[in-house]
Amino acid sequence: MHFRVTPSKIVDATVTVPGDKSISHRSLMLGSIADGETSVSGFLAGEDCLATLTAMRAMGVDIEQPSATEVIIRGVGKHGLQAPDEALDLGNSGTAMRLMAGLLAGQAFSATLVGDESLSTRPMQRVIRPLTQMGAAIESHDGKPPLTVAGGRALSGISYEMPVASAQVKSSLMLAALYAQGPTQIIEPATTRDHTERMMKAMGAYLYLSDHRIGIQGGQSLKACPIQVPADLSSAAFVILAALLSENADIVIRNVGINPTRVGVIDILQGMGADIRLEQPSLLGGEPVADIRVRACALRGSRVDPAVVPLAIDEFPVLFVAAAAAEGTTVFSGLEELRVKESDRIATMAAGLGALGVEIEERPDGAVVQGGRFSGGTVSSFGDHRVAMALAIAGTIADDEVTVRDVAAVDTSFPGFRTCMASIGADIQMVEDTILE
Ligand code: S3P
Repeated sequence: MHFRVTPSKIVDATVTVPGDKSISHRSLMLGSIADGETSVSGFLAGEDCLATLTAMRAMGVDIEQPSATEVIIRGVGKHGLQAPDEALDLGNSGTAMRLMAGLLAGQAFSATLVGDESLSTRPMQRVIRPLTQMGAAIESHDGKPPLTVAGGRALSGISYEMPVASAQVKSSLMLAALYAQGPTQIIEPATTRDHTERMMKAMGAYLYLSDHRIGIQGGQSLKACPIQVPADLSSAAFVILAALLSENADIVIRNVGINPTRVGVIDILQGMGADIRLEQPSLLGGEPVADIRVRACALRGSRVDPAVVPLAIDEFPVLFVAAAAAEGTTVFSGLEELRVKESDRIATMAAGLGALGVEIEERPDGAVVQGGRFSGGTVSSFGDHRVAMALAIAGTIADDEVTVRDVAAVDTSFPGFRTCMASIGADIQMVEDTILE
């Protein structure tokens, strides 16, 4: 499937975007091993989270989905999961695979985790190494999926200094730590999203949290609690981008998660001159939310602080497009982790923007982008959902039509992307491959 994007007039609107992907995954995993019934509202029914849902069901958890965004999980308790009949297929989701590896490390049964072509190339050593130190036994294909996690291993707590800033690694170890004997201490090189910490605490776990350190006593169990999932800032970022690049739109996105460990994209865009305001702030469950108001404005190039990278880790495709539309030069550095996301996002965004006439110099850990105009053209998402959506938004201000190839993966994180974009005036058509060839 392809997107065909026509230069569009973005209009004033109030919109909602789907639920947070990270929180939705965690609600399923933690809810499944909690005691009692967890009801989730605002759940993201994207393919990634549905892969986690199917995997938890395959391990014997009764999960009802009365509507796309509501899920009821009948928790089986920490030791109630059952051996799945087949390998668990986690599709495109690195979060599902890395967190699941930690969850499985403490189970009595063995299980195999597989993924799609993109996930099968992604590094898993980052979880295998510390989980092995805790006593787990995990087979991999040269550090990549499939992973077979052996059951019946006794885990012990460790103190682990993470070499990369990764909430996925941290969360994987936190899940294993619940099954370990003794305390586990995790030390982060930089702050990463803390949704696991918040949800475990809401479920009654005692955690020791201080700057960049998480301590968990092993053997704790979790108690079910209702979970309200805020709208995903990572999805809202595409609407924010469309509004900023527009001629004069004024757009409100309702009830978006603004957890301080996620708001790097807002800080970076504001540093480029963006008019973004947070209105009606409140708490939804244990997570801060607000309405995000964005008005069109001229952006200026900037030198993006590498210290903010982990707080905006999924938003660089959006930020690259913002930089390409800004006046002047933007320098991105400290982005090594982008090379091991759903695609190598430095390379794929450089290829996409380059094909639209943007002057972009790729560097090992980032890029230098000269702002200017976009021409029309044909680009590829390389199967990466966020690259597909970012390039589609670039198409709304291009001089001519933009075709974005290979966009099926958009449903992994943002089902309803085109409908949402149509509601703000973006003309993004879905085209069958056969029509385009
Ligand atoms: C996620 C953490 C991030 C992010 C991913 C979701 C999570 O990955 O890129 O989309 O839910 O924990 P890393 O923490 O590995 O950078």
